Amino acid sequence: MKTVTIVGTQWGDEGKGKITDYLALQADVVVRFQGGNNAGHTIRFEGKKFALHLVPSGIFNSETLNVLGNGMVIDPLALHHELTMLDREGVEVDPEKIIVSDRAHVIMPYHKTLDLMFESLKKKNQKVGTTAKGIGPSYMEKTSRQGMRMIDFIHEERFRKHLTNHLPYINKLLKTFGFETFELRTLLETYAPIQERIKPYVKNTSKIVYDLINDGKKVLFEGAQGTMLCLDHGTYPYVTSSSPTASGIALNTGISPQMIHNVLGVTKAYTTRVGGGYFATEFKGARAEKIRTQGNEFGTTTGRPRRIGWLDVVILKHAKRVNGLTHLAVMLLDVLKGIHPLKICVGYRIDGEIIDDVPAAIDDYEKCEPVYIEMAGFSEDITQVKQYDDLPLNARLYVEKIAELADVGLSMVSVGPDRTQTIVIKELYE
Ligand code: GDP
Ligand code: IMO
Ligand code: MG
Repeated sequence: MKTVTIVGTQWGDEGKGKITDYLALQADVVVRFQGGNNAGHTIRFEGKKFALHLVPSGIFNSETLNVLGNGMVIDPLALHHELTMLDREGVEVDPEKIIVSDRAHVIMPYHKTLDLMFESLKKKNQKVGTTAKGIGPSYMEKTSRQGMRMIDFIHEERFRKHLTNHLPYINKLLKTFGFETFELRTLLETYAPIQERIKPYVKNTSKIVYDLINDGKKVLFEGAQGTMLCLDHGTYPYVTSSSPTASGIALNTGISPQMIHNVLGVTKAYTTRVGGGYFATEFKGARAEKIRTQGNEFGTTTGRPRRIGWLDVVILKHAKRVNGLTHLAVMLLDVLKGIHPLKICVGYRIDGEIIDDVPAAIDDYEKCEPVYIEMAGFSEDITQVKQYDDLPLNARLYVEKIAELADVGLSMVSVGPDRTQTIVIKELYE
């Protein structure tokens, strides 16, 4: 059985949660492999709406195992709150349904303060506009070999030892820049019940997922963020601190790279971005407002209004290359109703030259001006369309043009936020 991977091809919020939930109806296992509660994945079905930040979006299929992989950074308090919220809503969250990697890194409250501190020390136009969830500082500690892993977090003595050794250093840093410090005793008291709550979930997920794939189970990898927020392949330094690409999966879950098969690139029918950093196709004004309103483009995690732009095939081709995209899902097509004409960016003009890839230096990227082609728009409400052929001709021509330019076959088109508003062109589990 081939594995399926879902990755964002843009700057996040492409609709990965919706598609993961949809495919999870068929999957045995859903695995998050990077990021933390900076992610906000929205799922809608049967009149209900959920925003997930840490728990994989397979949780609404009672048959699916949900895995938080070793490449994640996990805030145990946020996980505790999310489990409590799901439990309250009648969703099963026992350790038979959710497992957490013993090697995942932990986010402590001082990581969140450090996140704010690092941002506050930057000049206005240099701010990344992070979600302030402590993601960057936790990954920093991972790579500088100062971090705490889940296996240490759930162990009373190791947890105490880590904080005893580490906290003086953190407090010294915070004090230097005038930020509030943390007390060992308070942290130990706050986290004691959380350690007990999380302990039963913590396992060697690498072995479990590897065995399930070898047993022929249907496994789905759920990316968070998007390719352009990738630490290596995104618009550095305006990125997150992990690798949301398909290449990251083997490392970040502890399976073989040969186990990555179908890779579904999820793209909005236009572009959005939340936080700092240039993107070439951004536009403002009444048309951007119309799209923001029709698409309800406000951050799932922070509530910030998302910035709006035209679809950009330069980044889609970049995403195809760095992820090995085998299929494409075009999301929020319904939102473009009544927008005429539709523009697609097919190249960048820089210093009098036209290029079709993303420059590495951010100041070169900031000089890139989009080169557009125009397509006719559509005026019909498409939110009830169930069959691809029933879409208006101009809507079909638009998505087919995107697939043709990106050179990736269409698998799905989404025409509304609900699970049922999904048009399947090519099945991924066969
Ligand atoms: P994710 O982070 O990639 O999971 O995406 P988010 O959940 O942050 O943002 C996507 C938003 O678009 C959510 O509010 C979804 O409910 C919504 N959504 C997903 N697909 C569609 C669609 O086809 N049409 C519309 N109108 N909304 C959609
Ligand atoms: P999902 O999974 C959109 C952005 C932040 C900021 C940058 C770095 O819902 O698509 P961080 O807190 O990660 O250090 O912030 O990345 N960002 C996202 N934008 N969707 C996300 O996740 C994001 N996760 C991080 O806004 O610009
Ligand atoms: Mg999101």
